[in-house]
Amino acid sequence: MPPIRLVHVSDVHVWRYAINPAQLFNKRLFGMSALLVRRARKFRLERLAHVVDRVVALKPDHILISGDLTTTALPIEFQAAREALALWLGDPARATVIPGNHDRYTGAAARDRHFEQTFGEFAGAADYPWIRPLDDRTSILGLDPTRAGWSARGMLPRSQLEAAKALWNERRRAGDRLIVACHYPLDAPEPFRDELHPKRMTNAGEVGRWLSTVGPHLYCCGHVHRAWAFGPTEITDQLCLNAGAPLLRDPSGANPPGFLEIVLDAADVHVDHHYWNGHDWETRPLVHRPGFFERRAF
Ligand SMILES: [Fe+2]
Ligand SMILES: [Fe+2]
Repeated sequence: MPPIRLVHVSDVHVWRYAINPAQLFNKRLFGMSALLVRRARKFRLERLAHVVDRVVALKPDHILISGDLTTTALPIEFQAAREALALWLGDPARATVIPGNHDRYTGAAARDRHFEQTFGEFAGAADYPWIRPLDDRTSILGLDPTRAGWSARGMLPRSQLEAAKALWNERRRAGDRLIVACHYPLDAPEPFRDELHPKRMTNAGEVGRWLSTVGPHLYCCGHVHRAWAFGPTEITDQLCLNAGAPLLRDPSGANPPGFLEIVLDAADVHVDHHYWNGHDWETRPLVHRPGFFERRAF
């Protein structure tokens, strides 16, 4: 079987200044305005077309977008994100899109399912959790711990966790390469733990205890705008991959914006970080785990 090449992107955070008169009565207006101003300073929307082109040039077999496509979950932001990413989204069989907390930012966005209306065709099913096969060996398990409202914290509902366990038990023999797609990391490398803490998934421990029983898996996330590859100590068979944020302004040069290229070749995993250094694209090997998926026990 030929290798499969995935591109993992997260936290694009498309933003638009568009407050219509009806929204002036929304008590969240001031919060949204302040957030938009901060985001406009933080994310370089003018770079998005370059990111899209860079990914297209890699000719990935599949593109996984792990949430926070928008900033305040306004319909105009969803529309702008969909249009800007059109070159990635031509074939629903070759792209997977899951929501982040910013895609549920308002009660209306969650209630009216703006995310599902715009990106629903790139999910494994209408409701979470779902398992989506990519090829004979590889599947994506989609989880959604986002909650409507201002809190950046997430929580995987008990019913969703139980359904994920049942789904996994039913489908575990369908392939040996599992990718869990979830906006929230369960843990972070030491330097970023303090950053994750106030916006963590509150039942990450419980979810992690279950995932520590499923065998080797990739866990593709975002939310903390830092690219990383690490193995949480409590979940020994997990390789946690955070794609960072591709439009992040990075004056320090310590956290360059980009995305991940993940190649699965038999049981091997190889991940490169593609990032913009302020002048040009660069690529650095992030992690190489020969035989990573070999240890699966059935
Ligand atoms: Fe984000
Ligand atoms: Fe987030």
